[in-house]
Amino acid sequence: MPHHFLTGAELSSTQLDGLLGRALELKAAPRSSSALDGAVVALLFEKPSTRTRLSYEAGVVELGGHPMILRGEEMQLSRGESIKDTARILSSHVQAIGVRTGPDALLEELAAEGSIPVFNMLTAGHHPSQALADLLTLREEFGALDGLKLAYVGDGNNVARSLAVVGGIAGVEVAVASPPGYELEPEAGGTRTHDPAEAVRDANAVYTDVWVSMGDEATAVERRRALEPYRIDEALLAQAAPGAIALHCLPAHPGEEISEDVLYGERQRIWTQAENRRHAQKALLEWLLSDGSGATSDG
Ligand code: CP
Ligand code: NVA
Repeated sequence: MPHHFLTGAELSSTQLDGLLGRALELKAAPRSSSALDGAVVALLFEKPSTRTRLSYEAGVVELGGHPMILRGEEMQLSRGESIKDTARILSSHVQAIGVRTGPDALLEELAAEGSIPVFNMLTAGHHPSQALADLLTLREEFGALDGLKLAYVGDGNNVARSLAVVGGIAGVEVAVASPPGYELEPEAGGTRTHDPAEAVRDANAVYTDVWVSMGDEATAVERRRALEPYRIDEALLAQAAPGAIALHCLPAHPGEEISEDVLYGERQRIWTQAENRRHAQKALLEWLLSDGSGATSDG
């Protein structure tokens, strides 16, 4: 069975720890691995992307593989070809497939019907590729992850869910502050509050994401109204632990979910976090292709 990475829950805490350690090695020596030598990795986008596309495409190249960018609207999928048949065709030509789409069920079906690793490049439900980079950024800043507290302030969305799931595996306490109606479900893990000040108390990192995710545009007006008190600014950051850092997965909307002075200020690690996407995902790709089903049968 190939490895998959659909929500991040596929990783044990030991595997996650090893993967982040490997990411640090790859960050220190970006050209040191040719684990994807000869492998073709398909990257299917049904939604826009800047960071995810750049970091996966460049990461595959650095590992010696070939990234193949696919757009949903250019595939027969868009004309009704089944996911089952698409999975069979992909499995016969490439060694792994990353997908950015809406429904999580699409990834689950691709993984079930194909014979190659499937990894999540963002769905409506999850963004685990982002969470890997976020944990890598915390590890660089603080060392051990176990026992750290991360406060997420904003919409209880895909990014919040992946932080709760993957952060939980790493032993990070994830406290989510959202307005009524926008809470993360309890099953995702972490804790819930409607009060940003309560979430950030003793937090080592304060994190936010956009108020209007891709696919939520129809409710943009009410979202902005409800989320107005959930902005990360210097005043909120001052209530976190001494030395707390500010994180954001980007793209940012300065003046909405984050103030401009925090976005470009001393305490942000946001731009490092964006760079860390590539390093963390390269470690993930090595792991995905390391079980004999992909290019690196001896890895
Ligand atoms: N953070 C993130 O996934 O960015 P993109 O939407 O630009 O890929
Ligand atoms: N929650 C956002 C994340 C973008 C990287 C979205 O889904 O649009």
